[in-house]
Amino acid sequence: EKGGYEHFMIKEIMEQPKAIRDTLTGRLPDDGFEVNLDGIKITKEDLQKLNKIFIVACGTAYHAGIVGKHVIEKLTRIPVEVDIASEFRYRDPIVDENTLTIVISQSGETIDTLVAMREAKAKGSRTLGIVNVVGSSIAREVDDCLYTWAGPEIAVASTKAYTTQLICLYLIALDFATKLGTISYEEFAKIRDEIKRLPEKVEYVLTHRENIQKYASEHFNAKDIFYLGRGLDFAVAMEGSLKLKEISYIHSEAYAAGELKHGTIALIEDGTFVIALATQEKLFEKMVSNIKEVKSRGAVVLSVAQEGNTDIENVSDHVLYIPRTLDILAPVLTVVPLQLFAYYTAVQRGCDVDKPRNLAKSVTVE
Ligand code: M6R
Repeated sequence: EKGGYEHFMIKEIMEQPKAIRDTLTGRLPDDGFEVNLDGIKITKEDLQKLNKIFIVACGTAYHAGIVGKHVIEKLTRIPVEVDIASEFRYRDPIVDENTLTIVISQSGETIDTLVAMREAKAKGSRTLGIVNVVGSSIAREVDDCLYTWAGPEIAVASTKAYTTQLICLYLIALDFATKLGTISYEEFAKIRDEIKRLPEKVEYVLTHRENIQKYASEHFNAKDIFYLGRGLDFAVAMEGSLKLKEISYIHSEAYAAGELKHGTIALIEDGTFVIALATQEKLFEKMVSNIKEVKSRGAVVLSVAQEGNTDIENVSDHVLYIPRTLDILAPVLTVVPLQLFAYYTAVQRGCDVDKPRNLAKSVTVE
């Protein structure tokens, strides 16, 4: 059942190229200027009346939502707010018939997300679900549903659900942008072609997993690990940090690199292990400065950058390169070494990787 792997988590990490291919099947034609989203019946007119989109989810799905915000805003110019479902529910959010509420859930049964969706619906908002489990409560109750075709995810730590949620968010952003006319054909074609190359690029990262295993074997005794990033890298940092915490029980924080100097940098001391994500071209120089700041306080830094940006080697102890891609698509590649790092660290520490303490696969209590 684990396909020859020691744990479901590593099996599911390794399945990501296929999960992404399956999620893309039939949805992104090789030519033409459109996306085919079976489950989404939202028209140009529906989109034109929207003044806001909410993305509501929990945990890893929430982290995917943060990437979604950046991408949907960039391509459609519609303002997007992302909220944790258990917060959204209790804060009387401003939602009405001119709002679209996107809920993201692997299981489709997370109670906070389900109830948040119902509440948005009751206030007149149209609801769109990005869901993995076919026929689950959220999938049945939303107005429009786009499935991630990740296949069953058994490990408590979510991996292939996250990367396929990102794919769905890219598809939704492209679909809305073509309908609204906020994207040129050239831009559309560039993103489309790069999305199609993601499965083989993920495969490439997976092939080099022994490097990450090596870093994990050097740092598995760390007391704290900080994940730093800017822009989309910050969103991925949050996901990498959650993955580490939940399965290895190492304390970890994700920080927006530019915000560090407003307090948290006080925690960096000799030997603190920092994972610095520097995949965003426009923010690369800024990240290099942030890495210098933590290095000069004694941090040991593992950086992740796009291939070719070798300047990063001058300021880092170790560097992991991901294949080059568009900045907005980089999260799909950047998260993979972080998933592997959390996995190998937890294995080294003898943790129960697939069933971490205090956690359930689907959270049906409020
Ligand atoms: O099934 P859902 O996507 O709604 O679950 C949401 C979270 O409970 C889930 O992502 C959780 O954070 C994972 N254990 C993270 O790996």
